[in-house]
Amino acid sequence: MFILLPDPTPLNLVLYAAFALLAVGMGPLDYFGLLTMRYSKFRGEGGISSRAGMFFVYFAPFLAALGFSLPYLSHLSLVQAILLLALLGHFAKRCIEALFLHKYSGPMDLPTTLLIASFYSFIAAGTSALNAAPLARADGLFWLGLAFFAVGEFFNFWHHKILVGLRGESREYVIPRGGLFERVACPHYLFELLAWLGIALLSRHLFVYLAFLGMFGYLLARSLKTLAWYRAKFPDFPKGRKALIPGLI
Ligand SMILES: NC(=O)c1ccc[n+]([C@@H]2O[C@H](COP(=O)([O-])OP(=O)(O)OC[C@H]3O[C@@H](n4cnc5c(N)ncnc54)[C@H](OP(=O)(O)O)[C@@H]3O)[C@@H](O)[C@H]2O)c1
Repeated sequence: MFILLPDPTPLNLVLYAAFALLAVGMGPLDYFGLLTMRYSKFRGEGGISSRAGMFFVYFAPFLAALGFSLPYLSHLSLVQAILLLALLGHFAKRCIEALFLHKYSGPMDLPTTLLIASFYSFIAAGTSALNAAPLARADGLFWLGLAFFAVGEFFNFWHHKILVGLRGESREYVIPRGGLFERVACPHYLFELLAWLGIALLSRHLFVYLAFLGMFGYLLARSLKTLAWYRAKFPDFPKGRKALIPGLI
């Protein structure tokens, strides 16, 4: 079963149509500046500490995923346990990276913080709640999803480490070197997407595929803007580098 569909009730049709619209719109909204996420290279003037903001952005969905697992937490099947651990592990990793790894150069916008935390919490809550009705058994695609998740998280972390190593106390931006940064501007986004594709294959619910689609659009938009930003800031930025997918885009 590649995809688990919701019951076709009128309410579900409306809710899923609205979510699909949001997922498709996320990339264009950010790319064309209609709803720019104001942090990192695209931050505004003021705001709150990026470390605190980013921790909140990931801690809220961690709690949401845990909270919505309570109805089935005491009698987990293998499939449910692996998906829930992947979900909690993802947000816990990001909390730890926000607190102890990243070197931020400035604040992040408060409305952006609340918006991203709400979006992630919605995704985490929905994915966890739907895990009450999991796949009947772990099939080949499930194990492929677990492999995607593990590889995606590991190389996402690895590229975050490269970014940290670029920076001295000056907190300047420099041209990233090493790993897949030699080929694309945002390899950490590429591996984040691989991890979420893995989560979608662990869950198989339409809701999680739509969440993946939204993240793909957003991270593609953000990586295209990041590439343009690098090219404008560094005239010697390597010409052949793409934004997100080596050799492609
Ligand atoms: N699932 C999703 O939809 C989604 C969306 C966005 C992010 N994420 C996750 O969050 C992670 C971080 O995303 P992000 O958008 O914050 O990434 P980012 O803008 O690349 O920033 C990551 C860290 O690296 C620093 N940095 C970035 N470019 C640098 C450079 N050229 N030289 C030195 N330091 C640099 C940033 O510092 P500054 O803060 O000073 O810029 C920040 O500390 C992603 O890899 C992904 O795991 C997920």
